[in-house]
Amino acid sequence: MNISIIGTGYVGLPTGVGFASLGHNVCCIDKNIDKVERLNKGQIDIYEDNLKELFDKTVQEGKLTFAYSIKEGIQNADLVILAVGTPTEPNTNKADLTYIKEASKEIAECEIDRHIVIAIKSTVPVGTGDMVEEIINNENCDIVSMPEFLREGFALHDFFNPDRIVIGTNSEKAKNLLQQLYQDKNVLFTDRRSSELIKYASNAFLALKIHYINEIADLCEKAGANVEFVAKGMGLDSRIGNKFLNAGIGFGGSCFPKDTKALLETSKEFDSKMSLVDTVINGNNFRKMKIAKKIADKAKELNPHGEKQIRIAIYGLAFKNNTDDCRESPAIEIIQHLLNEKDLILEVYDPKANENAKKILGDKVNYYECPKLCAYAVDMLVILTEWEEFKNLDYKLILTSMRDDILLDYRNLLDEEEMKSIGFKYERIGKKYD
Ligand code: NAD
Ligand code: UGA
Repeated sequence: MNISIIGTGYVGLPTGVGFASLGHNVCCIDKNIDKVERLNKGQIDIYEDNLKELFDKTVQEGKLTFAYSIKEGIQNADLVILAVGTPTEPNTNKADLTYIKEASKEIAECEIDRHIVIAIKSTVPVGTGDMVEEIINNENCDIVSMPEFLREGFALHDFFNPDRIVIGTNSEKAKNLLQQLYQDKNVLFTDRRSSELIKYASNAFLALKIHYINEIADLCEKAGANVEFVAKGMGLDSRIGNKFLNAGIGFGGSCFPKDTKALLETSKEFDSKMSLVDTVINGNNFRKMKIAKKIADKAKELNPHGEKQIRIAIYGLAFKNNTDDCRESPAIEIIQHLLNEKDLILEVYDPKANENAKKILGDKVNYYECPKLCAYAVDMLVILTEWEEFKNLDYKLILTSMRDDILLDYRNLLDEEEMKSIGFKYERIGKKYD
């Protein structure tokens, strides 16, 4: 099949590479000319496991090409996938559909005279398919909702092993084409509006699950229980499920924060109530302030008379493990709160996200390429991203080089007994400490 993908970011590029590796002819289109030039030179802007290898292979096989003009990029397409960004609007909490509108207008100008399917993979509010249909205004084009459920850091894994493919359309022609594309997958066909809403309802539900376990963690800390046992016990009930019950510092990323806000706005537009989502948004914002305060309070304990500067090493800047993405990273937000405190010096390390973090934090913190150097002569070490790498460091060595011995593991990554036996004053989330 000839597939064109508009938007070559965290979704568009892995999706393009994935389809190309399955033998389809894929053209990835992006309006960012520099990005397209880099792609043509074999350079990828984002970090995703195994993406570079498969990218190189599919380009070499001639299955993956790039373009910056939609007109040029879709000229042979049977299927056009829209994967442009839908961030939060600058002055509201709604989804910003500027890029969707721009791309749709450009498609409209192509005066398509054969049947093609235009699938909206970007996360868009219910009713956006109707809007795109109006802009393109061409009966040769079937506008379909086909939301994306992949996770960053696991994009190719999720592309090849999706839990489900959701396709919202009433067009038999579109259904046939997409059935052909996803013949071996679990496909749910719905109407377009339901499909659009499935995406937001899913993301908001996952966000809600995280916020719920974070609140349970707070209760555990006060009541003397352990959130990890509680989560494990809950997760054994197959109706609840054991995933997304890791308590931590609050959810972040380019999707949950913006999608929960957009869903709440949609509910208001339709005069419908989404009080749970409202609570989750506010609770998650508050959580990051609360975690920052916990860290700052610990620092104050070390400096009761305010006469010295406290040095804190922070491990983790990305919004989660396995990605370089810092968009709405809770780690970054916590750091920003800490920067408002007096007498704190922040030393930071992330395996992949230092460069992206620099774009937000600039030179207000000190960046390290090595976790051991980052922790040298610090008073406290704080873990804010759940990187696997952090589990395998030589903490004995790290402790010997530290000035004091506090380790705040706010992603519950490490073995508590081991860290205590090494000599750390260790704390994690969802447990009471005296
Ligand atoms: P991104 O910002 O990484 O990439 C979007 C790309 O689209 C950019 O490279 C931009 O230059 C390009 N673009 C914008 N307008 C264009 C136009 N008119 N023509 C050509 N290119 C254009 O975004 P992303 O993270 O890949 O997300 C894309 C969409 O997918 C969003 O709606 C997001 O909510 C949704 N989504 C993202 C993820 C994820 O893990 N990031 C997962 C599921 C769904
Ligand atoms: C999320 C969804 O998992 C994807 O299904 C969806 O396609 C995507 O959003 C999207 O629409 O963009 P992603 O943002 O890549 O994927 O990351 P997640 O793995 O869901 O993590 C989101 C945030 O929640 C991270 O900050 C993570 O650290 C946090 N989290 C996750 C927890 O605090 N606890 C958990 O148990 C799970």
